[in-house]
Amino acid sequence: MSATVPALELRGIQKSFGSVSALSHVDFAAYAGEVHAIVGDNGAGKSTTIKIVTGIHRGDAGEILINGEPLALRHGAADSQDHGIAAVYQDLALVECLDISSNMALGNLPRKFRFLLDRGRMDREAAKVLVELKVRVGDVKTPVGLLSGGQRQVVAIARAVRMDKPIVLLDEPTAALGVQESAHVGRIINELKSAGKAVICVSHDLEFVFKHADRITVLRLGRSVGTRQVQDTSRDEIISMITGLAPASPADPESGDPR
Ligand SMILES: Nc1ncnc2c1ncn2[C@@H]1O[C@H](COP(=O)(O)OP(=O)(O)OP(=O)(O)O)[C@@H](O)[C@H]1O
Ligand SMILES: [Mg+2]
Repeated sequence: MSATVPALELRGIQKSFGSVSALSHVDFAAYAGEVHAIVGDNGAGKSTTIKIVTGIHRGDAGEILINGEPLALRHGAADSQDHGIAAVYQDLALVECLDISSNMALGNLPRKFRFLLDRGRMDREAAKVLVELKVRVGDVKTPVGLLSGGQRQVVAIARAVRMDKPIVLLDEPTAALGVQESAHVGRIINELKSAGKAVICVSHDLEFVFKHADRITVLRLGRSVGTRQVQDTSRDEIISMITGLAPASPADPESGDPR
């Protein structure tokens, strides 16, 4: 795949909820084979950006391009999978009363004889993905409501991996996870990247971001304020871009704190 055309590009995305302007201008581009982190303070518009890409929200203005092709902003949530997008939302979209394998197959249930659910195949596929990802959550027939927050998060990630789409959006994938589980999610992200996918990861955890991302885009108050290569920036610069308390100038490792 050509690395000159972004797998996913947003141009001038705007979104208001009534009188609240959630996004005033978001530009963003992620390429196949990169891990691209989106960071920003609470309410900066990260989750809204993700939901506009997957069609849960419709943008008021701007353009979404997939491999350079414009995507209608009215495309609808179910449709986004057909456009090669898999997502894990911050407000996890798992159904508590359903078991692990049903949750992992949601939106894409295996059928036999056209309309019957293929329960055996669904369980086998779920178990296979969980084994591949080295996720230990017990029996795939366990209702998700019985899992811990961290286990649910890992199941949601496994669900997105199972979809096997070229663009993977993860909104705070490690928020409920301990150190070891976070490292495990980091390895899964690296594998997705090695498989040539564009991995877009919203995270508050700058340590995680600096360890696993290739590039970082910062959102502040509904605007994208800049994108940096991880090797060309510093935590201090990213924090100043997030808070807006210092000019978002190119990284200068010698400069230290400007005040
Ligand atoms: N469905 C909605 N209805 C009304 N306002 C909304 C809705 N979703 C988001 N907002 C508002 O849009 C702004 C951006 O919210 P968003 O959830 O995108 O932020 P975020 O960067 O993901 O924050 P966090 O780090 O806390 O998850 C906030 O002011 C929020 O209150
Ligand atoms: Mg959010």
